Amino acid sequence: MIGSKVRLDPSQTGQEADALRARLRKYVIGQDEAVAEIVNIYQMHLIGMTAPGRPVGNLLLIGPTGSGKTRIVEATAEALVGNASAVVKVDCAEFQHSHEIAKLIGSPPGYLGHRETHPLLSQENLDRHHTEHCTVSFVLFDEIEKASDALWNLLLGILDKASLTLGDNRRVDFSRAMIFLTGNLGAAEMSAILSPKMGFYAGGPPHRNGDADGSITGKISAAAMHAARRKFTPEFLNRLDKIVVFKPLGEAELKNILEIELAVVQQRIHQSQAYTPFTLGLTARAKDILLQEGTDPRYGARHLKRAIDRMLVHPLANIMATHQVRCGDLVRVDVEEGTGHLVFLREAGNAPTGDAPSSPIAPLAAVCAAREAGACEATNQGAGAE
Ligand SMILES: Nc1ncnc2c1ncn2[C@@H]1O[C@H](COP(=O)(O)OP(=O)(O)OP(=O)(O)O)[C@@H](O)[C@H]1O
Ligand SMILES: [Mg+2]
Repeated sequence: MIGSKVRLDPSQTGQEADALRARLRKYVIGQDEAVAEIVNIYQMHLIGMTAPGRPVGNLLLIGPTGSGKTRIVEATAEALVGNASAVVKVDCAEFQHSHEIAKLIGSPPGYLGHRETHPLLSQENLDRHHTEHCTVSFVLFDEIEKASDALWNLLLGILDKASLTLGDNRRVDFSRAMIFLTGNLGAAEMSAILSPKMGFYAGGPPHRNGDADGSITGKISAAAMHAARRKFTPEFLNRLDKIVVFKPLGEAELKNILEIELAVVQQRIHQSQAYTPFTLGLTARAKDILLQEGTDPRYGARHLKRAIDRMLVHPLANIMATHQVRCGDLVRVDVEEGTGHLVFLREAGNAPTGDAPSSPIAPLAAVCAAREAGACEATNQGAGAE
């Protein structure tokens, strides 16, 4: 309190924006600036402060490959309308010629195939995933640096006036859409910063010793911004609310992403056709091996996901297909002495003990009970009794 004046706190956000921030941080690791921008524009939208006749927000996301640019768009849709696929995605590289542009906006009446074309950017498509609580649409233009001139013109109109005219002259209103644009600008420069010695990562993101002052992140950011300014016209840049440069993912981030991905694998096991819900438990050593194999700064989390697929998911699929596990088992994944390979050990029973599984998704006993009616038995005949 200063005299009779009360000092206000503009940094506070409302409950719904807080909830969005919490969920985005759970899904997307290490990209707090991007999270903050999305929360900002959502807060503006909720309170009705977005400029009239403009989209909810126009964000350009750039930065290294596999750092979460596309993921954060899906995560925003997941957090707000409960569906990560509720994103209208335009892969700009695919729309170079006029007949391809027709896939986006439809062809004028009278043109061959006019009735059969269902334009991707129709109002219906945009509003398809609205819910009672959220009427925001999510539109993603991927790799915009590859957009043709015709697509650029459409894009500029959408960003500026929140409006698009379809081939049959209907207008599409983008004033309730969050527009995300992603680009792979400066990829070569970023790759050189991330692996200056042809594949050897000399530095590291801020929390590693090699980059304690955050200089790698700073250099990446400068390279990406420079590339954006060189590539895009001021006319385009002026229409953006913000350019967000994604940070390269370091050891700590990849560790968190590994946990997220392991939870996804566990979920896939529970939903699998093989019908043998079991719990996966990785020892700390097994996780270390996955991280070791899955770390390549040039490819971010993509490399980690490939390592998880190769070293964990493929072998598990074989184990499941050959009925080596049964409903309720614990499959512990450890590292074999000597070879350093992952080994898969089955421990029978419903109640895993000891080294806790990394990410049990649902009480397994309940899943098994629900499937009791012989289904597990039928599909597990080959598992054999011990
Ligand atoms: N920061 C992150 N947090 C959580 N998961 C991530 C993150 N970055 C990447 N991933 C995981 O890696 C996958 C690939 O990342 P994503 O598609 O977002 O990369 P990108 O930055 O869009 O790369 P590109 O420039 O090649 O399109 C995601 O689906 C997600 O599973
Ligand atoms: Mg992407």
